[in-house]
Amino acid sequence: MKGLILSGGKGTRLYPITFNRAKQLVPVANKPVLFRVIEAIKAAGIDEIGIVVGDTGEEIRHAVGQGKRWDVEITYIPQDAPLGLAHAVKISRDFLGDERFVMFLGDNVIEGGISGLIRQFADSDWNGQVVLTEVDQPQHYGVAELDQERRIKRLVEKPRHPQSNLALVGIYMFDQHIFDAVNAIQPSWRGELEITDAIQWLVDNGYLVHPYIHRGWWIDTGKPIDMLDANNRVLAELTHYSNGYVDRASKIDHLVTVEAGAEIINSVIRGPAIIGADSRIVNSYVGPFTSIYHDTHIEDSEIEHSIVLDHSRIVGVPHRIEDSIIGREVEIGYSSIKPKAYKMTLGDHSKVGLL
Ligand code: G1P
Repeated sequence: MKGLILSGGKGTRLYPITFNRAKQLVPVANKPVLFRVIEAIKAAGIDEIGIVVGDTGEEIRHAVGQGKRWDVEITYIPQDAPLGLAHAVKISRDFLGDERFVMFLGDNVIEGGISGLIRQFADSDWNGQVVLTEVDQPQHYGVAELDQERRIKRLVEKPRHPQSNLALVGIYMFDQHIFDAVNAIQPSWRGELEITDAIQWLVDNGYLVHPYIHRGWWIDTGKPIDMLDANNRVLAELTHYSNGYVDRASKIDHLVTVEAGAEIINSVIRGPAIIGADSRIVNSYVGPFTSIYHDTHIEDSEIEHSIVLDHSRIVGVPHRIEDSIIGREVEIGYSSIKPKAYKMTLGDHSKVGLL
């Protein structure tokens, strides 16, 4: 089998974090979501992975490279415009050939492995397999209706009046018949070739698409709140370790990871939390569900339930920071310079919540 990861899109809902960076490279528990997807595919024994890239292709190539780090071979497939998931399949024809493949959205995080699922499909005579999960607001997703025998009856992309609460999770498996399907369908009202329409075509033409219902958690990291949610979930599942330096005055518990070169001085870290490589936490409190990325400095401050990206500095902040996503090279500090006022240099699309 081969793997196909979709890693295009602009990530506008995650602005400003994704204003100048690919959304798939935003780290969850200090590892880019895209890396987690590559690892999940590799864990299923797949070594050949195609990544469909758009405007942020350069950055993705730079971060992922040829795949040596994971012992996989990466092929990049440029998509000129975000014309839909089925369009991405269409342009990947040469890479995929006639092999069965798993397609994975590069910004989705799912509980546990998917290796079993992929292997099950590899050994089956099904033409496709889709992963479904129950959601509260199905109108935001592709929605599946099953019949009495739990076979797929109908798939509708973002229906106004959903007939079921089973959403299509961003993981799909196909054999080569999907190419007939993507060539047969027309763009939807949003101008995209929808994968839901292609799967419907398979079903209508007598091909067997198996619906698998996923019972664990699944997060499409589209919005900041989803990013924090995914961070919570992954931090809670991590096997924690400490490779950095923790001084005697500090307190950390067994659910805290301290990466190599990090230093914890006179601070309290309550897990689940992760402190990235070469970061320094001094006279501070880092509370549960916080990921501090590499080369970050936190001093005389308190932070909880947040993600802080690399090379940022948080020093002398008088109130605890919570529920926040802080980008790269951001500086937050106490200013003693008069007048006594908030002094900010904020980029486009920034959001600040003041006390
Ligand atoms: C896409 C699919 C949709 C699926 C969703 C999962 O939606 O079209 O069927 O439920 O991914 O994240 P999009 O992200 O393009 O809105």
